[in-house]
Amino acid sequence: MLLSYMLGSIPFGLLLTAASGQGDIRQIGSGNIGATNVLRTGNRKLAAATLLLDGLKGALAVLIAWVMTPPELGDRAASLAAIFAVLGHCFPLWLGFRGGKGVATGLGVVLAMSPLAGLACCLIWVVGAKVTRISSAGALLAFACMPVILFFQNGHSFSGSEKPLAGVLVAFIIFMRHRTNIGRLLNGTEPRIGQSSR
Ligand code: G3P
Repeated sequence: MLLSYMLGSIPFGLLLTAASGQGDIRQIGSGNIGATNVLRTGNRKLAAATLLLDGLKGALAVLIAWVMTPPELGDRAASLAAIFAVLGHCFPLWLGFRGGKGVATGLGVVLAMSPLAGLACCLIWVVGAKVTRISSAGALLAFACMPVILFFQNGHSFSGSEKPLAGVLVAFIIFMRHRTNIGRLLNGTEPRIGQSSR
């Protein structure tokens, strides 16, 4: 859990934008440290790298948990790793517990827990964001579907594997982190992809 939290708390968006001389991403756009806001710097490659690395750290946390535990505890360990990696991204110790919104890391943990469910979520996210031109709308749609997909994959049940429950908790964290986005979506002021925010 600690290792997953530490991995999740690496703020790639902040580190990459600072390293490329773009300044502090927390002073740009929505102030979020995620790929959507990194895109607001105008640097697509930096945004893609943030998305990839934030996803990889989540996937790595889950895979390490699986490798480190006996098979009978694998799902439980992976589920805890998934939750703590997303918590690490959203509430990193290094940034005074003010981190990102967990989308890329959430996609990474789901891809590692269940590649099929992860791919379905990525697809829903991309299609949702493309159709609405709003990143948060795609993300919220994907994470609303994610626990349902894991539940059905688990034989319409919350028992036997901890993965569906982990999906509910990960989705809950991500929805909580999108409260301001949800407010803006409801009143029609959420910026489109690439548009400035705040
Ligand atoms: O990945 C986070 C996204 O859903 C919203 O980001 O910067 O528009 O609040 P942002």
